[in-house]
Amino acid sequence: MVAEPAARILVASNRGPVSYSRAEGGTLTAKRGGGGLVSGLSAVGGEAVWVCAALGDADREAVQRTGGRLDPADSGGQTVRMLDIAPDTFAAAYNGVANSVLWFVHHLLYQTPVEPVFDAAFRRQWAAYELYNAAFADALAEEAAEGAAVLVQDYHLCLVPGMLRERRPDLRIGHFSHTPWAPPDYFRLLPDDIARQLLRGILGADRAAFLTRRWADAFTACCTGLLGEPPATRIGVHGLGADAGFLRERSHRPDVEERLAGLREQTGARRKVIVRVDRTELSKNIVRGLHAYRELLTERPQWRGEVVHVAFAYPSRQDLAVYRDYTAEVARVADAINTEFGTAGWQPVVLHVKDDFARSLAAYRLADVALVNPIRDGMNLVAKEIPVVSDDGCALVLSREAGAYEDLGEHAIVVNPYDVTGTADALHEALSMEPGDRAERTKRLAAAATALPPQQWFLDQLDALSPQTR
Ligand code: F6P
Repeated sequence: MVAEPAARILVASNRGPVSYSRAEGGTLTAKRGGGGLVSGLSAVGGEAVWVCAALGDADREAVQRTGGRLDPADSGGQTVRMLDIAPDTFAAAYNGVANSVLWFVHHLLYQTPVEPVFDAAFRRQWAAYELYNAAFADALAEEAAEGAAVLVQDYHLCLVPGMLRERRPDLRIGHFSHTPWAPPDYFRLLPDDIARQLLRGILGADRAAFLTRRWADAFTACCTGLLGEPPATRIGVHGLGADAGFLRERSHRPDVEERLAGLREQTGARRKVIVRVDRTELSKNIVRGLHAYRELLTERPQWRGEVVHVAFAYPSRQDLAVYRDYTAEVARVADAINTEFGTAGWQPVVLHVKDDFARSLAAYRLADVALVNPIRDGMNLVAKEIPVVSDDGCALVLSREAGAYEDLGEHAIVVNPYDVTGTADALHEALSMEPGDRAERTKRLAAAATALPPQQWFLDQLDALSPQTR
């Protein structure tokens, strides 16, 4: 039983708003995370309980020390219940199913002649995914007050709405997908029973919501195709925007100024700068972005010595070999470009792989061109953040496969992410844009990017679940 009064608002996600690491001597240090959900949830302050999973040993130790309710001081006052799910179960659910299958399906990442392979080993991972989802459903059922609103996040927790509905029919349940949703032909790669189980799991919610109309329609099409009828569950779209107030204030603090000066020194004061900031994530298409930059330098030699590509590629999911290989490929291609074109006074690619938020903001301010070319992306907040923070205006080269395209496409230079030559041409067009045109477009991009700030995004979802709007 929970000691404190039951919660009226609950959020559930795999990764919580805080994580722990163990310092020398065994002390646990808490690190607070960022992102849309953290900002959004600040709209309801301490009212909510956030249920998440322990991701590593230090998190598990924090759970053991506290009994699962973390010290609110570690998470900026947010009440967090962290679940210590057995490490093997967690690894199979998170790495095996969520990251290696569901992420691949929704982002169209498979090399289909050889993968996926759904065999007995996969079925064991699937059983772990069920257990892991059940652990969330149990915790939510235990924490929630009568009639509470529960907002379940993402592909990690597709089965939770259905499981929670069985345990607590009184609750108002929403599911939100932060990823794209696969088109039906690709979703059908999954074994039929599992594909149906995933859809029915989400349909256990009162409302299933997505970042764009395109992803919502793909979900509806999968339901119609695989279950034989369109969803009875309500479908919603909430296009998360950038947090302008926070970004503008944070990007002018001294640590950002310091990094801005450092980056300027690295690029050279007069050169144009193409910026990208990503996790080293297969869907982000960093390698093709580098190929496009190489083609720009090859085909349009006038840019040699005149431009620097500042690429931040922060480590992600390094437990998976395919991510480690991809990270190595990013470094290899960046090196090859520097070897081929670099001169004593000019390094064409500046690659940083150590996550540093202040340095990312400095790059946002510095960018003449932002390169956001994912293969497929739920939204892509970097595309929305750069125009808000940019000092002198920034031309945005944007993939038509990013959710952000729905909001920003009109004012961006739009690319097919697989078309390297097209992307090189777009970089040339962006670098050549007249300053007046660039500043005007940046204003329009920033306005579109901030239309739905995170707090409002979150409150809209709660409102849509309220008994009056049911
Ligand atoms: O983009 C969808 C998303 O779930 C984000 O909400 C989150 O940042 C990321 O994917 C998950 O990444 P990780 O596996 O590092 O937690």
